[in-house]
Order: sequence, then structure tokens, then C-alpha cells
Amino acid sequence: MSVFLSNWDIQSINLWLSKMHHYKDTSKSQRANEADIILQLTYPKIGNGRHRIVFDLNNGYVLKVALTKKGIQCNETEFKIYDHCRADLLKHLCRVKEVGHGWIIMKKM
Ligand SMILES: Nc1ncnc2c1ncn2[C@@H]1O[C@H](COP(=O)(O)OP(=O)(O)O)[C@@H](O)[C@H]1O
Ligand SMILES: [Mg+2]
Repeated sequence: MSVFLSNWDIQSINLWLSKMHHYKDTSKSQRANEADIILQLTYPKIGNGRHRIVFDLNNGYVLKVALTKKGIQCNETEFKIYDHCRADLLKHLCRVKEVGHGWIIMKKM
């Protein structure tokens, strides 16, 4: 369950995660393209790195979906860092709103 994403969005993400391993040897841009096609999310794409594709939720937050196993770890790490951050340092981090398997929602910069 998510406040930001529909069940359909989460099912799409899970579908992509189940197919992700087929694209581990493709280029960064091709992996993002394949993910974009399989995900079929309605949110505009902001960009992608090697490990995550990022969408604008149009409400001040972004959705970051893993493109690789490492991307799943990156999302977990970003959540843990935010969650364990010292109070006086929090203002330097993007607020993390929600996290799920393979995805994270954080403040748009
Ligand atoms: N919180 C954010 N707000 C706005 N854009 C973002 C945010 N996080 C990532 N992006 C954009 O998405 C791109 C990929 O995200 P990044 O975190 O670098 O993924 P990766 O783990 O693949 O390197 C970034 O280069 C940036 O352009
Ligand atoms: Mg990056």
C-alpha cells in the first residue's frame, strides 16, 4: 500500500523487477528504455543513472525505480541514511516519503 502510488503502479514496478535480470548486460540507456516500456507509468521521466530511473510525481516528489540489483540496494541505503540521520543534518537530505521493494519516493530537487 502506498499513499503516492496506485496498486497498478506497484504491480508495474514488480513486473519490471521480475524481468530486470534480462537487461543486466545492456547499456545504461537501453536498460532505462526497456524499464520505461515495461513500467508504462504515466509520470514524466526526469532521467536515469546506471541503477535507477526517476519519475516526477508532479507533487514535489520523485519516484526512483531500481534498474539493477544495486539500484534496489541504493534505494534501501538512501532510506536508511535518511531514517538514521542526525536531526541537525536532516535538512541537507531529500525528505524520503515512502519506500517499497525496488522503489523510493523522495523530495524533488
Ligand atoms: N530527488 C531527486 N530530485 C530530482 N531529480 C532527481 C532526484 N534523484 C535523482 N534525480 C535525477 O535522476 C537521475 C538519476 O538518479 P540517481 O540517484 O543518480 O540514480 P543512480 O542510482 O542510477 O545513479 C539523477 O541524475 C537526477 O537527474
Ligand atoms: Mg547517479
